[in-house]
Amino acid sequence: MRSSCRAGGKRIPELTARVYNGARFGDCSELIQLHFQGIYFSMRTKTVSADLRKKLDQAAAKAMKNAHAPYSKFRVGAAILLTNGKIFPGCNVENASYGMSNCAERTAIFSAVAQLGPKIEIQAVAVVNDHGVACSPCGACRQVIYEFGPDATIFFQGATGPKQAHITELLPEGFRLQ
Ligand code: THU
Repeated sequence: MRSSCRAGGKRIPELTARVYNGARFGDCSELIQLHFQGIYFSMRTKTVSADLRKKLDQAAAKAMKNAHAPYSKFRVGAAILLTNGKIFPGCNVENASYGMSNCAERTAIFSAVAQLGPKIEIQAVAVVNDHGVACSPCGACRQVIYEFGPDATIFFQGATGPKQAHITELLPEGFRLQ
């Protein structure tokens, strides 16, 4: 695809356009792209009110108590907020065959799909753990969140305290079939 971009007021013709999660940018420097990407996200991403954020955290903390984590002894709770305002909780469910274990985030998402069908849209995800340590969604969960929430905000415990990130910051170039 051909397009152009401007750098320092100068038009740079015939550069290859690239598509980043729905937004198209010319082939400007990485820095300029990141800058516009940031503006783009903040323009389209719906913010979560403090009240809803609290409810989301509470739902995640409550679900964490139901975790089945006898192998890792690391209980995780998650809650997803849908764009229709509904909240679905989930916890990690481990298995003696370790690889069969399911993370809290995916439990919440699969539960929402089971109840409402596949047209759900995830606006935000909150993740908590019983060790109070840094814990962002694993790679598999990031991809599953992206499927139903390409514009989702993720609230989690970072290395130095609570953090929030757009799903595409956690999962650049997420995979979609369309
Ligand atoms: N776990 C989650 O449920 N969510 C995360 O975001 C990270 C890890 C679970 C998987 C496993 O049951 C345990 O934590 C230890 O990895």
